[in-house]
Amino acid sequence: MNLHNEKIVILDFGSQTTQLIARRIREQKVYCEIHPFSTSIEKIKAMQPTGIILSGGPRSVYDSDAPHSHPAVFDLGLPVLGICYGAQLMIQQLGGEVENTDKREFGKANLIIQATDGLFAGLEPGVPQHQVWMSHGDRIKKVPDGFQTTAESDHSPHAALRHTSKPFFAVQFHPEVVHTLIGTDVLRNFVFGICKCKADWTMASFIDSTVAAIQAQVGTNKVICALSGGVDSSVTAALVHKAIGDQLTCIYVDNGLMRIGESESILRFFREKSQLKVIAVDAVDFFLNELDNVLDPEIKRQRIGLGFIKIFEEEAAKLGHVNFLAQGTLYPDVIESVSFMGEAPIKSHHNVGGLPEVMKLDLIEPLRELFKDEVRELGLELGLPEEAIFRQPFPGPGLGIRIMGAVTRERLNIVRQADVIVLEEMKKSDWYRKVWQSFAVLLPIQTVGVMGDGRTYENVIALRSVDSKDAMTADWSKIPYDLLGVISGRIINEVRGVNRVVFDISSKPPATIEWE
Ligand code: XMP
Repeated sequence: MNLHNEKIVILDFGSQTTQLIARRIREQKVYCEIHPFSTSIEKIKAMQPTGIILSGGPRSVYDSDAPHSHPAVFDLGLPVLGICYGAQLMIQQLGGEVENTDKREFGKANLIIQATDGLFAGLEPGVPQHQVWMSHGDRIKKVPDGFQTTAESDHSPHAALRHTSKPFFAVQFHPEVVHTLIGTDVLRNFVFGICKCKADWTMASFIDSTVAAIQAQVGTNKVICALSGGVDSSVTAALVHKAIGDQLTCIYVDNGLMRIGESESILRFFREKSQLKVIAVDAVDFFLNELDNVLDPEIKRQRIGLGFIKIFEEEAAKLGHVNFLAQGTLYPDVIESVSFMGEAPIKSHHNVGGLPEVMKLDLIEPLRELFKDEVRELGLELGLPEEAIFRQPFPGPGLGIRIMGAVTRERLNIVRQADVIVLEEMKKSDWYRKVWQSFAVLLPIQTVGVMGDGRTYENVIALRSVDSKDAMTADWSKIPYDLLGVISGRIINEVRGVNRVVFDISSKPPATIEWE
């Protein structure tokens, strides 16, 4: 079922910026999907694209094992835009030549435009030069018959080309990166001027088409969804509920590793503000028992993960026959799970670890086409409150991996109180949304302090705050000293059992965001 009236299909040749092309096009309210370069021509046709983009990539087109898309891509009667490697491939497949050059261009370059239409409509030709971003060692040497050069740069005499009678365009630079100042204009000219798209992909239209698709997939069957209170599961539940109402049951498992008041506020919201059917399972004793005296971080994670599956299975069994599991897989997870030319995927997606296989359930993943910021936009459109939508990520194993070593009720109590102070002060100072994550970690090592007239010998809290785009890499946040001072002062004064606060200044890699 083709859910989208218009669709730009990107064939991915492995560039690190392929996802950005999709982002930039969706920002124009045009739907866009990324597929492997090797996608068959039948499959491409079946997608009914409005236009095709060949992405950049790390290889050279003349390598014996260079990735090629099917040359029939140029026989579909559709507009095609080649970017960097994609441009070189187009030129080579249509009869031109690409050569290796010692004049590599990496980073900013100056583009002189020679055309006033096509990709460059509305842009000033000749001087002034336009700043673009390049990343290539090869360049186009011979222009194929039927093509003409439309722009040049210092080291690329054919920095952009177009076919004179067919809608084929090639650019050596990367229009998707912000350093290409004319990038948005170029992509906009492609999708609107050349592909004639209409900019009608909005969250409202996404909701309509997705609701229809879920209804068609589910029929009269039952669906369950693990609700964690995080953005992705909340938005998934809200969307699936909109489609099938009471056929959906959400299961919220309180594993005793949540923050202060978290379970209550999540349940209150979903029960009072939505008509969602939510089963809350109090599994605090079970999980704390499972974690009793467990020191190894991996064993903690495994026990929490397996415990979750067990509780979830038990609850689902009580409901009777369930056919589907709804989960909040996002687009980056889908792309990262696909391997490129046999290389290992960057990370294998795991969400509700292993549940579908164990329970033999079919998956409903209504967010699998969306990026995180689009999920937030969707959540707002569905009426979820801002505090649910703009929450910082919280790991599945919860506070269990923020207490080093054994998890006890007493330690949970300490880390919870410290955590509340960190969140309160980050929000009050407007730093909460500026950072990716900010939290307290309990180090149950005793250090000496002095309080009043007495010597103390108590725990350490480590404050962790990081900036990141996708959690794959991260740097410690440059929080003002004054704010660090307020957080430290409050924790030491207000949390019994803590007499020292330290700030973690490690980046990822080599450290990770969580301490365990
Ligand atoms: P690390 O510690 O690997 O964390 O740098 C990267 C991001 O993932 C979150 N995280 C998890 N999220 N289940 C989750 O749902 C997990 O087991 C898990 N472990 C880490 C972490 O908070 C950070 O945002």
